[in-house]
Amino acid sequence: MTHVVDAKGARIPLLGLGTWELRGRACARTVEQALRLGYRHIDTAEMYDNEREVGEGLRASAVPREQVFITTKIWPSHFASHELARAAKGSLARLRLSEVDLLLLHWPNPQIPLSETLGALSRVKQDGLARHIGVSNFTVALIEEALGLAREPLVCNQIEMHPFLDQSKVTAACRANGMAVVAYSPIARGGAKNDAVLARIGAAHGKSGAQVSLRWLVQQGIVVIPRSGRVQHLSENCAIFDFELSAPEMAEIRALAHRGGRIVDYAYSGSPKWD
Ligand SMILES: NC(=O)c1ccc[n+]([C@@H]2O[C@H](COP(=O)([O-])OP(=O)(O)OC[C@H]3O[C@@H](n4cnc5c(N)ncnc54)[C@H](OP(=O)(O)O)[C@@H]3O)[C@@H](O)[C@H]2O)c1
Repeated sequence: MTHVVDAKGARIPLLGLGTWELRGRACARTVEQALRLGYRHIDTAEMYDNEREVGEGLRASAVPREQVFITTKIWPSHFASHELARAAKGSLARLRLSEVDLLLLHWPNPQIPLSETLGALSRVKQDGLARHIGVSNFTVALIEEALGLAREPLVCNQIEMHPFLDQSKVTAACRANGMAVVAYSPIARGGAKNDAVLARIGAAHGKSGAQVSLRWLVQQGIVVIPRSGRVQHLSENCAIFDFELSAPEMAEIRALAHRGGRIVDYAYSGSPKWD
């Protein structure tokens, strides 16, 4: 059974596969393996340079297209009105799909008016290129601004989230507005595996620290998209729906958040980190 979260009509599987840094044949093979293991949600982006291989893995798995939730993201250098639809069509061509399930704005771009970008993103949905639209790395203030400008529902905000980072304010803003939260780096790039508290709590359930981190998130209704290129970790990361953390365990994990816990320290400034 696929566990899903329902946000404004979008049924998003709680577990997805992250694909950043997966490339070439290894990427296609990993996507195929994940789908065979039961994953039903794949997260990619035009910036990851692997949409072609994600599409190949999807077709090789023989899992019917309609059973898989595919997310991709538009890079901020393509947020101008005339660029955005072209970027979305480029992603679909590489994926060899007629529509994605979710199309996100990858990072805020302060150089282009949000009204212009949200208008273009809404049109892409109206034109049938994406079933749902949303944002990523948006602050509370930007979420509120975006919701006022979008002509179609914004179904999620994809943000860095794991036990070492307090995201309670932005999470509360998403909840208040009916948006799903999608947690990226949900095992802190592997850091959750080595944490003593997570390992101890995991041992009590016969699970690893990485599994405890993922469980802590999904038990709050937060979607997780862990990345792995190894079958053993792909299997481990999907075995998170057969145990439950107690309220004291949930609180103890929440207390691990600290200043400096953020991993992804990036702000789009128009410089061509990737373009
Ligand atoms: N929207 C955004 O701006 C944004 C930013 C960053 C990431 N993302 C998305 O979120 C996805 C996940 O985030 P992430 O890739 O940054 O980090 P992550 O999923 O927290 O961690 C990935 C790392 O953890 C290792 N790992 C995976 N499963 C493990 C396990 N069970 N035990 C120990 N180590 C494990 C992986 O190595 P192995 O391959 O060896 O397993 C890999 O090095 C990305 O791939 C991408 O799709 C989005």
